[in-house]
Amino acid sequence: MITEAQRLQSVQEYYFSKKLQEIANMKTEIPIISLGIGSPDLQPHPEVIEELINVSQSGINGYQSYRGIPEMREAMSTFYQNKFNVSANPSTEILPLIGSKEGIMHISMAFLNEGDKVLIPNPGYPTYSSVTELVQAEPLFYDLKDENNWLPDFEKLEKLAEQQPKIMWINYPHMPTGAKASKDVLRKLVEFATRHNILIVNDNPYSFILNDEPMSILSIDGAKEVCIELNSLSKTFNIAGWRVGMVIGKENFINSILKVKSNMDSGMNFAIQKAATKALLVDNSWYDELTNIYAERRKIIWEIADLLNVKYNREAVGMFIWAKLPNDKKDDKTFIDEILYDKKIFITPGSIFGSNGKGFIRFSLCAPLEKLIEVKKRLEA
Ligand SMILES: Cc1ncc(COP(=O)(O)O)c(C=O)c1O
Repeated sequence: MITEAQRLQSVQEYYFSKKLQEIANMKTEIPIISLGIGSPDLQPHPEVIEELINVSQSGINGYQSYRGIPEMREAMSTFYQNKFNVSANPSTEILPLIGSKEGIMHISMAFLNEGDKVLIPNPGYPTYSSVTELVQAEPLFYDLKDENNWLPDFEKLEKLAEQQPKIMWINYPHMPTGAKASKDVLRKLVEFATRHNILIVNDNPYSFILNDEPMSILSIDGAKEVCIELNSLSKTFNIAGWRVGMVIGKENFINSILKVKSNMDSGMNFAIQKAATKALLVDNSWYDELTNIYAERRKIIWEIADLLNVKYNREAVGMFIWAKLPNDKKDDKTFIDEILYDKKIFITPGSIFGSNGKGFIRFSLCAPLEKLIEVKKRLEA
């Protein structure tokens, strides 16, 4: 018998991969409306599409540089300077990625040995722990709690640091809760990482969704010595399926990641890189328009949440609304399944993001207004 590798024993198929298949197989009289996954339904900027079409016809279809085209790296550097006031050398401190998700694997492969400990937020993006397991390192979950605004408890972190973790994943603005970290919190995190010799990776794909204070951990003094940052064009520019992300950090960190990446894939399609370059340089009206659309949607999701009697924070940022179930309804998976089977509306259960997500649900803002209004109607019926 051919057996699976042992490293897969503690890894499950991704929740959405299974659940979306179940939903696709459901036979229903009315279409299921998904408020589940955060996959932007909006169009990219027209000039970005135009660039993609034009450059696709240029005949350049060969393998591309492992480091991405210089022009796109320049644009990434300009984007970081303009949006976060962070300077990054485009030749040495920026590495384009085929989406930031692959970066989580590359970074883990580049820095973790078997048995190394990794600080992972609970709740948090499930890929941090599954990749940690895949590279046979050990997750050390740190609690994020509602009562602490979903920010780390530094006293508890100090205790966990006794186990000498090598990497700490953070993700502010935070998915799934929408929590923001202040400059002061980021400063404390940098100081914590410096003191304990931990590499902090800030996964930062949601800075430009309903957030008027985009922040990079690399803007903190001394951060470049102990921090790297992942960023993504998926949500900011509505090109999730094009797969464009980046990792920013000092040269020797980037070189280690490149050692892994260049052995695993090649640079992304030339036309996509050219179009991504355009996206990174669009003017501010793009960001204003995105904010207006998501703000309108968020208003209706708040009304939907009110109908379901779940509690949310109006100050939260990002692409999701995170909401707490009433006290008598603790099981979020049962709660969302009842709505799915009864009303044909899919919402994500909070417990898939970790034990601290139990009793919460997450609504995605990636559905057009008409669908959100239909959701309201179904719930009111
Ligand atoms: C917290 C977080 N990090 C990373 C990603 C991956 O984004 P990308 O499309 O850049 O791979 C996601 C996508 O949903 C996410 O929610």
